Amino acid sequence: MIRTWEELEEQCSKCTKCNLCNTRNNVVIGTGSKSAKIMFIGEGPGADEDAQGIPFVGKAGQLMNKAFEGIGIRREEVYIANIVKCRPPNNRNPEDEEAIKCKEFLDSQIELINPEIIVLLGNVALKNILGKEYGITSSRGKIIEKDKIKYVPTFHPAALLRDENKKILFWKDLKKVSQMM
Ligand code: URA
Repeated sequence: MIRTWEELEEQCSKCTKCNLCNTRNNVVIGTGSKSAKIMFIGEGPGADEDAQGIPFVGKAGQLMNKAFEGIGIRREEVYIANIVKCRPPNNRNPEDEEAIKCKEFLDSQIELINPEIIVLLGNVALKNILGKEYGITSSRGKIIEKDKIKYVPTFHPAALLRDENKKILFWKDLKKVSQMM
């Protein structure tokens, strides 16, 4: 088990546990407050994130920032990470094996941060954290308590770019999260 942020950063930055290391430009570990009460977990870095080494800085991230602003959440006060820390080529979904190999890093982040609430952004985050039996359409907006953490699944911000109708539900879910604090 990784016990410190220094260890985590060192191990992530030199990780070669899966093939994603061959095509990455940067390992995208996470961003935000290391004592955050709310943590957000996405899928994996896209091209912008891979280039900058920071999660959710592309179009989907900008949309998420807008929602944060509207609801009064400051990006610096939450922590944002992904299921996998290196970009899957062509933005494909991470494979199970990649997610499993990367899980130790995410588990360590959760343990070091010790958040009260974890927002799961989309199906990949939901299924990898809570189990394959969950689906985003039926689970979104619900509070699922497990091991003293309240999980709130919602749509992935990239899904809002494809379907405007999901925006209002995403906003509603984030509002609910902000009111849980
Ligand atoms: N999509 C994700 O799931 N994570 C990011 O960091 C960016 C886009």
